Amino acid sequence: MKHIDHHILRKALAAVCLAACAGGVAAREQSLQVLHWWKSASERQAVGMIARRLGEHDVRWRDALVPSGSGVGAGIVLRSRMLAKDAPEVAQLNGIVVRDWARLGLLLELDAVAAAGKWDKLLLPTVAATIKHDGHVYAAPLGIHRINSMFYNRQLMLRLGLAVPATWAEFERIAPRLQRAGIVPLAQSSEPWQVATLFETMVLAEGADLYRSLFHRRDAAAYADPRLGAALLRLRSAKRWMGSPIRESNWVDSVRELAEGRAAMMVMGDWVKGELLARGLAVDEDFGCAAAPGTGRYHLYNVDTLSMLGAHAEARAAQEKLAALALSPSLQADYNMIKGSVPVLANPARAKMDACARASWQLFSSGTAAQVPSLVHRMATDEIVRDAIVAEVHRFFLNDSVPVEDAQRRLGTIARTYIKTQ
Ligand code: BGC
Repeated sequence: MKHIDHHILRKALAAVCLAACAGGVAAREQSLQVLHWWKSASERQAVGMIARRLGEHDVRWRDALVPSGSGVGAGIVLRSRMLAKDAPEVAQLNGIVVRDWARLGLLLELDAVAAAGKWDKLLLPTVAATIKHDGHVYAAPLGIHRINSMFYNRQLMLRLGLAVPATWAEFERIAPRLQRAGIVPLAQSSEPWQVATLFETMVLAEGADLYRSLFHRRDAAAYADPRLGAALLRLRSAKRWMGSPIRESNWVDSVRELAEGRAAMMVMGDWVKGELLARGLAVDEDFGCAAAPGTGRYHLYNVDTLSMLGAHAEARAAQEKLAALALSPSLQADYNMIKGSVPVLANPARAKMDACARASWQLFSSGTAAQVPSLVHRMATDEIVRDAIVAEVHRFFLNDSVPVEDAQRRLGTIARTYIKTQ
C-alpha cells in the first residue's frame, strides 16, 4: 500500500510538472528547427542575424545544418526526415523545389501572411511568381543572388596593369600574363555543382535564347546547336587557366585563393562577395565585381527562400512570424548586405547597397528580358534533370576523351527523357 501511494504520488507530481513546464515554455518561447545549407562564415553571419531578429519576436531559431555548397544532398536529408515523420518546421527550399513540395501538399500556405504584408505590392514580380503555386504562397523569400558574377582581386590586376575582361576572348588575352607572373587566372574547384555553375554562365555567353531553350523550355533541338558545343569546349579549355591539379575543394577555398592574391578571378554566384566581406576585404578597394565574361546584359539568378513544413499545427504562429520577418525592409537590407545577394523588394533601401549590389538589383528589376533563371541553382527545371545535366557536364569537363558531339547527344537525351512538370 505504502509502495502504491508513493508510486501514485510520483506520477501525479510528474503530471503537474509536465503541464506547468510545458505551459511555461510555450508561453515564454517557441522554437523552429530550420534545415539549411549555410555554413561558410558569411552564411553563418547572415543566419545569425535572422536568428537574432526572430529571437526578438520570442521565437528561437534551431539550426539543422546540411553542410554542403549549393545544398547538394539537402533535398535527400529533408525527404528522409519527412518519411521518418521527423520533419523540421522550416526548410530552405529554392525555386522549382518549392513548387514540387507544394504540389505534394507538404508546405504551409502563407496566403494570410502575404495578404497582411501586401507581398504582391512589396515584391519584385518575378520573386512573387517564384514563391507561388496554383495561386497560393508557399515560401518567404530572402534574397536574389546573381550567378553570372565575376570577382577579381583588384590590387593584383592594378599591379599587373590588367583590364577586367568583359568577354572570354579578353580573358584569354590576359590569362597568360597572369600565369607567367605565377598567379592562377581563374580560381575554380572541380566539384560538380561548381563546374556546372561556370558552365551555365558560358552557355549564357552564347545567347540567352539558347540558354532558355536548353534549360527552361528543354527544347530537344537546341541540344544539337553548335553554340552548346562551343560552350562545352570553352569549359574544357578553361582548365588550363585553373590551378593544377584542379582540386575538388569547397567554394570558400577558392575565395581564399582570390583574397590572398594566389588567384586573380573567380566566376561564381555573388555569395562570394559575402565571403570576401566577411574576410574583411572592401568592395572597389580590395576586390571588384563584374559580370561573368560575355553575360553583362543578363542577370542569371536564383532566389533564396524558406518554406514552412505543414505538419506542425503548434508551430504555425512561429512559422508565420518568421515568414513576415523575412520581408521586413530592415532585415532585407541587413541580411542581403552580409549574404552578398540583393533584396527581393520592388522598392528597397538603396543607401546601404554597395556598387555590386546596386548593379545587380538594377539589372534584375529592369524586367524579365534581363532575367535568366539558373539551372544549377534550381530555378529553371526540376532536380532530377538538373542533377543529370550537372553529372554529364562534370564528366565532359574531367574526361578529355569524351567527344563534344557525344556530350551534346547525352544532354539532349536527358532533356527528352524526363517528363516536364512545369
Ligand atoms: C544558395 C546560396 C548559397 C550558395 C552556396 C546557393 O545555391 O542560393 O544562398 O550561399 O548556394 O552554398
